[in-house]
Amino acid sequence: MALIAPSMLAADFLNLGKDVDVVNKYADIFHLDIMDGTLVPNISYGFPVVEAMAKKAEKPMDAHLMIVHPEKYVERFAKVGVSYLSFHLEAADRDGLDPKEIIALIRSNGVKAGIAVNPDYPLEKLLPYVPEVDFILIMSVFAGFGGQKFIEGTYERVKAVKAEADRLGVKIDIEVDGGVSPANAAALKQCGATMLVAGSAVFKSDNPREVIELMK
Ligand code: DX5
Ligand code: ZN
Repeated sequence: MALIAPSMLAADFLNLGKDVDVVNKYADIFHLDIMDGTLVPNISYGFPVVEAMAKKAEKPMDAHLMIVHPEKYVERFAKVGVSYLSFHLEAADRDGLDPKEIIALIRSNGVKAGIAVNPDYPLEKLLPYVPEVDFILIMSVFAGFGGQKFIEGTYERVKAVKAEADRLGVKIDIEVDGGVSPANAAALKQCGATMLVAGSAVFKSDNPREVIELMK
């Protein structure tokens, strides 16, 4: 079993309420991709859209911050009501921030703290954070755009995080994001993934419910 988190980036923004209902009815988590055009080469949506979704959301919200200086927005996302909040280690590295301080800030706001990394982030720099977080978001594409092709090397990275968590005896969630679909969901779960993000596979399908059920 893994929790299915449809990425609202692929939703129909002219009929957002309809796609919010899909998640409420059939999925487990709202995945919200926040991009600033600086950490990643794209801009997505911001607080007005997140606040609108929050009013209708009956499932927990998971904000994936692809922004520089994520620490500036932790409180605001907590206020909107997200249950999970992740930031990129690439953002912390870029700005000389201590990830542990951001993790503590997220937790002090009563939110589950996660770190996200792109497919080329060195595992030896990631694994020391396994005992420090509630979840780790392993990107299976380079952050910035929906609809990209799943990178096969992801399986080994998920296994490495799972092995480290088992070795230390800690229980964390492992979230995989990018190009996830019914074609790779089972293999990802077998490697240890517990949260699967899927945008295009769910919302560009004629039958989002069936896709979600297949991935489960
Ligand atoms: C990419 C985002 C993903 C993306 C997933 O930067 O973090 O959440 O929306 O979309 P698909 O499932 O289409 O790859
Ligand atoms: Zn994402």
